[in-house]
Amino acid sequence: MGEKSSVLVPLNEMLEDALKGNYAVGHFNINSFHWVEAILEAAQEENSPVIVASSNRLIDYLGGFQSIAYFVNKTIEAKNITVPVALHLDHSDSVERCFEAIDAGYTSVMIDGSHFPIEKNIELTKRVVDYAHKHGVSVEAEVGTVGGNEDGVIGNINYADPQECLRLVEESQIDALAAALGSVHGPYKGEPKLGFAEMKEIFELTKVPLVLHGASGIPLQQIEKAIEYGHAKINVNTECLQAWTNSVYEYIDSHKDTYDAPSILKAGKQAVKAVVKEKMKDFKSSNKAN
Ligand code: 13P
Repeated sequence: MGEKSSVLVPLNEMLEDALKGNYAVGHFNINSFHWVEAILEAAQEENSPVIVASSNRLIDYLGGFQSIAYFVNKTIEAKNITVPVALHLDHSDSVERCFEAIDAGYTSVMIDGSHFPIEKNIELTKRVVDYAHKHGVSVEAEVGTVGGNEDGVIGNINYADPQECLRLVEESQIDALAAALGSVHGPYKGEPKLGFAEMKEIFELTKVPLVLHGASGIPLQQIEKAIEYGHAKINVNTECLQAWTNSVYEYIDSHKDTYDAPSILKAGKQAVKAVVKEKMKDFKSSNKAN
């Protein structure tokens, strides 16, 4: 078994509080270890709960589940982070990967069986829930297709079917539901249009906290409406990546002779931190840590 933390919390408690308090907790994907520092510092400064997420496809690049859990726990200790933090596996393509994450000390996992027929999606999700709940870990699952590149799987937008959502929730007892309703991973072409009527219906039917994937680029007004209609977890990656890249380019452009990697990377880290803080304000999770 991996790193057991006294600080990391499961997602379900966080999301129940968010639903009651009419706010959403930000999920931020990590793309290197200084991303972890940026996200945790931002959460502490905003006094906000936070979800540190690692994409399934980046686990090996980041050194494996054990290294990620160890680094997150040690950074929480070293920086005296006191706000609630969940460590989440994003878009796992297999039950076994979820088990590995749980064994390494993750407090939340997403099993993404959305590209399978609903029967198979439910079957996979149930196996993950059985194991996760025994270990006090929360589970997110998905119905429908988020557009764009979903952790290596490219798809067109395909709206979640409300009855399939209800079956998945009732039969597998998940803690959070990603119901795809028009959002896209990566940059949007034109104005995003979320299916609010379907969203309201799905939340009223299932009553579980909803998860909004592909939140980068969604206007604030739509974010606020999504929170009103049951979204308690909002996933952001692209906007942090864009901010990091722009700021690293700018730093290199204005320091043509530099080869000091830490200074270059620090510019990127500060840019990620600024985006995370702004999102926490937008999602109304600032000052909700207690
Ligand atoms: P964006 O990259 O579009 O912000 O989406 C992030 C996400 O949904 C991760 O699961």
